[in-house]
This record gives sequence, structure tokens and C-alpha cells, in this order.
Amino acid sequence: MMINYFKLQNFRNYKDETIEFLPGINILIGDNGQGKTNLIEGIYYLLTGKSYRVQKEHELLSWDQSEFHLHGDFLMAAHKVSLESHYKNKKKMVKVNQVPCQRLSDFVGTINVIFFSPDDLVMIKGGPLERRRFLDLHIAQMRPGHVSLLNAYNKVIQQKSALLKSLVSKSLKYTQLQLWNEQLITLGEKIIRNRVDLTKKLQNVADLIYGNLTFQKEKLNVTYIALGNNNVNEAISEFPKLLNDKLEQEIERQMVLIGPHRDDVQILLNDKPARLFASQGQQRSIVLSLKLAELELIRQEKGEYPLLLLDDVLSELDRFRRDYLMNFIESSGIQTLITMTSAEKHLESGSLYFVEKGHIRRKR
Ligand SMILES: Nc1ncnc2c1ncn2[C@@H]1O[C@H](COP(=O)(O)OP(=O)(O)OP(=O)(O)O)[C@@H](O)[C@H]1O
Ligand SMILES: [Mg+2]
Repeated sequence: MMINYFKLQNFRNYKDETIEFLPGINILIGDNGQGKTNLIEGIYYLLTGKSYRVQKEHELLSWDQSEFHLHGDFLMAAHKVSLESHYKNKKKMVKVNQVPCQRLSDFVGTINVIFFSPDDLVMIKGGPLERRRFLDLHIAQMRPGHVSLLNAYNKVIQQKSALLKSLVSKSLKYTQLQLWNEQLITLGEKIIRNRVDLTKKLQNVADLIYGNLTFQKEKLNVTYIALGNNNVNEAISEFPKLLNDKLEQEIERQMVLIGPHRDDVQILLNDKPARLFASQGQQRSIVLSLKLAELELIRQEKGEYPLLLLDDVLSELDRFRRDYLMNFIESSGIQTLITMTSAEKHLESGSLYFVEKGHIRRKR
């Protein structure tokens, strides 16, 4: 998959700018604060319907503007795909090949993308939410139904929470809570199975890559922990009982205490939690392995590598890891957009663009 053309209008610090990309490596070079990340964010937003930096679209609008437009032309299995995103009056409209889409799931996953920045270390250092988000973002690109599933599940959680906080009598609460619990079980099981399926696949590939990065000296283990249990079938069969057991506690604390909205991914390095014991460099290697594993999984399923966006990543890696990543990119032919500051040593191969004050000029 690749991007050929991208146009941004009133998006962040871009007024009206177009850029043509080439296959292989595309390097975006510029001083700090010129628009490199904004450009990457624009492409990611166009492909996923979400920004990884902000929750609300209006923050993506150029200051003092009321609407933004993004337009990208892509190639997928030798077919042209045109995507357009238009945001106006707090509403967003998306078109795929000029046809308007009703829902996010109508276009997310049309062209796949993997984004990688130093902030991805939160997958290791951060809380369970970050790890669940990592899985969900990947699944959403591969199985569009996952987004609707998460939305439906979250709605039930909201309704159940509201009931837990409400002042209705205890006996009435019990009956209604049972009804919500039945839905939590049905939807929750599907979410858990999607996440477990991805975690298993990631584990197989990421462990191999991590082994290569450490000359087989270290072992990476990634496991989905469903409802506090690393045995998914056991967890799912115990789900109704767990919900029943927690009922009193949930009423007392007025919150939903068990379900996939509280699950975690256990990341072990040589059998010890990476969050607590892995060094900064080891944590970076784990994230790199997981990102490369994601690329491989998409290629296996879709028959093509996704688009790869690397924001400020190269300066964070040591020589060996940087060479490993660049070799992977070059030998696989993945189209990659890489941001670098002017201070960094230029890469010798690849197309080169200068980014300055919201303008982009091709240099090589
Ligand atoms: N909504 C917005 N409207 C207009 N300008 C914005 C908006 N949001 C951010 N900017 C500006 O865009 C500029 C470029 O930001 P960006 O994050 O893309 O920089 P960068 O080139 O990636 O820099 P760095 O090398 O520091 O990462 C910043 O100076 C910022 O103030
Ligand atoms: Mg940046």
C-alpha cells in the first residue's frame, strides 16, 4: 500500500499544501515546529478517522479557521483509492472514491497504516489502557466490526454505571443489573477473543524479531490477561460467576469492576515484567519488535505491507537498532515516511522533502 498524493487545507499549520510521495523511503526534514508531525498526523487521521494527539477534531483546524480538508490518493493491490476528509461545523464527512461514508468502519482499514513515535513507549511504561488501545487500534484496521463492538460495549458500561449510581431500590437494581450483565458477557467475549487472537499472533512474530535484536539472548513474552486470567477459555466461562460475585462490591463502589474494559496485556522480558525491570533501551526494542510484528501481520493478512509513518523515531534508536529497522524497511520495500530534524545526519537513500513553516519542498 502506498500514498501518492496528499493535500492539506486549513489543517494545523498548513493553509493549502500538496505533496507527492514516491515509493520506498520519503524523508521529511525540517527544524522544530515547522509541520513535520502535523503532516504525519494528517495522513494518520485521514486513514483512521482519529488523531493520536487530540480527542477533538476542532483542535486540528488551523487557528481562526472553521473547516479543514484532507485528500489523499493511495494505491492498494494496484488499485487507486482516493480518500477525502472534510470537517465543518463540528461534523466530519469522509468520502472513499468520491462516495460518502456513513460510519468510521466504512473506510477505516481501506488503506492500512502503522504509526510509530517515541511516545509509543507508553505501551510498556503506561497503564493497561495504553496496551488495550494498541490492540484495539490494530484490530479496528483489520476487522472494522471491532469498532462497533467496542462502542456497543462502552454504551452498556455507561448504562450499567448509571444504574449503579442511581437511587432505585436494591432489588430493582439487581434485576436490571442482570440484564446489563448478559449484554456485557455477549459483547465482552467477542472483544476478548479478538484481542487474544491478535496478541497470540503478535507474540509469535515479535518474539522472533526481539530475538534477532538481542542475538537470541533475551526472550519476549506477550500475553493477554482476560478478566485477570491468562487462560482465555477459563476466563470466559467464569465471566458470569465473576460478575455475580462482584455485584455487591460494584453497587457499593458504583462502578463496573470486571470486564474487558479493565483487561491488560502482560509483557515479560526474560519472564519479568518489562514495565518494572526492562531498561529504556530494552523497552524501545520491545516496542520496535511489536511495531515490526504489526507490519508483518498486516502483510500476512492483506497480502501487502501497510504504509509506515515514523515520527522522530530514528534519533531515539542506537546504531544497531536503527540499522535493523532501516534494513527491514529497505528489504521489504515498505513505503515509509520518516521525519528528521535538520540537525540529524541525512539518510543517504530515499526521497527528501524540506518542511518549513507549513510548506513542503521536494529536494531529492
Ligand atoms: N491547530 C493549529 N493551527 C495552526 N498551527 C498549529 C496548530 N497546531 C499546532 N500548530 C503549530 O504547528 C507547528 C508545527 O508543529 P509540528 O508538531 O508539526 O512540528 P514539527 O515540525 O514536528 O517539530 P518537531 O521537530 O519539534 O517535532 C507548531 O509550531 C505549532 O505551534
Ligand atoms: Mg514533530
